[in-house]
Amino acid sequence: MQLDFSTLRPAECYKVLASLITPRPIAWITTVNQEGAVNAAPFSFFNCFGSNPPIVAFAPGNKDPGIPKDTARNIRNNREFVVNIADETLADKMVATSASLPHGESELAITGLSAAKSVSVMAPRIAEAPVSFECREWATLEIGSNRMVVGTVHHAHIRDGILDPDTLHLQPEMFLPVGRMAAPDWYCRTSNQYEIKRPE
Ligand SMILES: Cc1cc2nc3c(=O)[nH]c(=O)nc-3n(C[C@H](O)[C@H](O)[C@H](O)COP(=O)(O)O)c2cc1C
Repeated sequence: MQLDFSTLRPAECYKVLASLITPRPIAWITTVNQEGAVNAAPFSFFNCFGSNPPIVAFAPGNKDPGIPKDTARNIRNNREFVVNIADETLADKMVATSASLPHGESELAITGLSAAKSVSVMAPRIAEAPVSFECREWATLEIGSNRMVVGTVHHAHIRDGILDPDTLHLQPEMFLPVGRMAAPDWYCRTSNQYEIKRPE
């Protein structure tokens, strides 16, 4: 099968890319609005892109033509956000926070999750998440109707036992994030990891 992307509609491009570029990590982003209400939503167009400085990027779209999703609107206003990572035990709640609620209504409250204070940004982290990264917006790129938020990481909260405190090596069985698979509703577990040594 061959696909010429110049002949595909955006919805078809999405279906092909989002189903085949997998598994993807999921950024479960918390932000605050101008009234201080906490917003949470998952974004799987996400990854880390460097360590010097430490950068992450994700792509929140529009909820309606010309109207950014609440996450993007909040970051435009206060230039900060927290990337939380969901593991298998939190996967259902993470997906539930993708509900579109009226601006200012908190997805954390409806899922029984709690917000915990951050150290370097106003936006709180999700207390139940095993890992959270506090970030500041570096730049937001607008490419066609896409929006890519690039942020630098300033502080991490990592549940004890996940990283060796001396070496910072991961204890793989202690961290089982979920990954995004085919659109619209498929996910993968990370409980069957294996190692392949690189050539010298
Ligand atoms: C696992 C998952 C991944 C998602 N990834 C994205 C994404 O990368 N970009 C996006 O715009 N929406 C994505 N969504 C949809 C948003 O989470 C959804 O539109 C949400 O309501 C946005 O919330 P907000 O308006 O509070 O920012 C995803 C949803 C799920 C369940």
